[in-house]
Amino acid sequence: MSVLICFIAVVVLCYVIVYYVVFRGMGFSSSVKLQGKTVIVTGSNNGIGKATALDLAKRGARVILACRNMEKAEAAAFDIRGESGNNQVVFMHLDLASLKSVKTFAETFLKSEPRLDILVNNAGVLSPGRTDDDFGMAFGVNHLGHFLLTNLLLERMQRSGPSRVVTVASHLHCIGNIKFSLLTSKKDSVTGDYIWHNFQAYCNSKLCNMLFIRELANRLEGTCVTCYSLHPGVVYTEMGRNINWWLQLFLIPFAKLFFMDPERGSQTTLYCSLQEGIEPLSGRYFSNCALQEVGSRARDDTLAKKLWELSEKFSSS
Ligand SMILES: NC(=O)c1ccc[n+]([C@@H]2O[C@H](COP(=O)([O-])OP(=O)(O)OC[C@H]3O[C@@H](n4cnc5c(N)ncnc54)[C@H](OP(=O)(O)O)[C@@H]3O)[C@@H](O)[C@H]2O)c1
Repeated sequence: MSVLICFIAVVVLCYVIVYYVVFRGMGFSSSVKLQGKTVIVTGSNNGIGKATALDLAKRGARVILACRNMEKAEAAAFDIRGESGNNQVVFMHLDLASLKSVKTFAETFLKSEPRLDILVNNAGVLSPGRTDDDFGMAFGVNHLGHFLLTNLLLERMQRSGPSRVVTVASHLHCIGNIKFSLLTSKKDSVTGDYIWHNFQAYCNSKLCNMLFIRELANRLEGTCVTCYSLHPGVVYTEMGRNINWWLQLFLIPFAKLFFMDPERGSQTTLYCSLQEGIEPLSGRYFSNCALQEVGSRARDDTLAKKLWELSEKFSSS
């Protein structure tokens, strides 16, 4: 009996240590208020995006939930308005898998909203298939849609400055790669259900997020707009909804035990959006509410420029 109790105690202790040391992550606290400011959070009907939008709403911002599913987004807006006591939380339709939808979103926004202080490029997918414009889903949604969105809104951000672009990337960028020949011939799509192909396309798109922010910072130098990329931590969200059921069966108990909840997972996004004095670090990468080194490919300025030029060509065609 006593051996069993000791065993259980050791297991619980190991769990607590692993959870707090490896998975829990840092909290961000700040008294910054956002009355009179406008923010956009893409993919904010659930997960990290919803938690981010809730915090920004509590600070008094006008929060635009830029989402593809009206029903889910209206429900999230209702929850956030209720919890924050802020009625300035509204849904605007945005499907990042369609460049036409991105353009329509930007036009509607620019017509109806006089300012933009923080743009949080949060939405992300890990799923097979192609976008409406025939790009691989991960590249199209995670990178290209956000690339176009940011560029269409930059002028408004410059007029509202100081303002910030915050892009949710991932540590997985380290194993990402960009094959320009595949992108150009639109052969980067994941057509089947192969987990590894999906996963690699996701990592590649996260490398694109990092390179985009690096090049954007160079182009914005001397303006009142700054930009940051970040890793949110390992967070229990709906991100894995498209992976095989048998893998989910294995992952879900582990995720429930160890992964952060979305509120904890929103802390570094909030840090990059709100922390005072980080403007000289524009273009850099954050994790755990602190500056982080990036993988070697994500430091490659030539690659960043090449990706920018290709993305410009893709999004204007
Ligand atoms: N969870 C993690 O451990 C982790 C780790 C590193 C990085 N990240 C990054 O964190 C970000 C947020 O992910 P999450 O974990 O919160 O996942 P999530 O719960 O699946 O949320 C993703 C959001 O993106 C939206 N979205 C997907 N495709 C879209 C499209 N075509 N147009 C507009 N919105 C779209 C989803 O909308 P629907 O509900 O309509 O699908 C959802 O609101 C992603 O960029 C992800 O890559 C997450």
